[in-house]
Amino acid sequence: MSNCVLFTIPGNEVLANSLIKLLHAEPGEAIIRHFPDGETYVKVNSNVHEKEAIIVCSLHQPDDKILPLYFLAQTLKEFGAFPVTLVVPYLAYMQQDKRFSNGECISSELFARLLSSFVDKLITIDPHLHRRTSLDEIYSIHTSVLHVSHMVSKWINENIEQPVLIGPDSESEQWVSKVAADANAPYTILEKDFKSNSVVTLSVPQFEEYKKHTPVLVDDIIATGNTMIESIEALKEVGMKAPVCIGIHAVFAELAYDRLIKAGAEKVVTCNTIAHPSNAVYIDELLAQQICKSSFVID
Ligand code: R5P
Repeated sequence: MSNCVLFTIPGNEVLANSLIKLLHAEPGEAIIRHFPDGETYVKVNSNVHEKEAIIVCSLHQPDDKILPLYFLAQTLKEFGAFPVTLVVPYLAYMQQDKRFSNGECISSELFARLLSSFVDKLITIDPHLHRRTSLDEIYSIHTSVLHVSHMVSKWINENIEQPVLIGPDSESEQWVSKVAADANAPYTILEKDFKSNSVVTLSVPQFEEYKKHTPVLVDDIIATGNTMIESIEALKEVGMKAPVCIGIHAVFAELAYDRLIKAGAEKVVTCNTIAHPSNAVYIDELLAQQICKSSFVID
């Protein structure tokens, strides 16, 4: 791709460098650092006049990244870049999509409004769309949503004998059913029973017929790990083998990964939408293809 400069928000260098190679794109030069008082400093060194600027920034721990991202995108525009495309493999603030109790902020809407105000296009992977069916309901810019279910299925077929796919709750069914269909494997969904604000119990459907299978828990996000851990416990209770846990987005708040392993996960596998040692399904080529497709200038 010519006439396109690719920038990175710190923390995304591995994916960004891979995209630069795949796209034959010009690496963008920018300094992004903090002053001693914590304020953010941004300086763009590349010439971006009348070029497309791509910014790679996965938005886990989003509050630390949003200001550097805003300063960079806005500065690129001031120096004549157009369009400014955000490649955001993990899109944050998708779960608070309604007021669960009076007075709460609907952060998914406000965050969408904020991003839409300073980038021109956005490319993301499997955003958490639960009560909404499309990002267009909250984003006013052009958005491209990519899915990784076929790649997760491929990983399962290549690595697991006799899998049975399990979704930890009804929200996960949209991902689990697709992965199961592509992997040509059976699937079932556990039932969450919300007894109070934080206590979750799981009732396990009939598992007798799957006792010889390897259970594969699949969810879009692993954050605290509690959903997966509760599921592992429930599977243990009915005498299933130790499960492989697959999450698309490795958010892993604090010690979530270690807690999952300690709880009895046979293996934890994620996509590299967020860089983590558990990454085993790689989205680089999928993203590169979409960047080319949606670019204004394609070689
Ligand atoms: C929920 O709606 C999502 O699909 C995940 O199940 C959830 O984000 C997992 O969170 P945690 O790891 O904190 O239980």
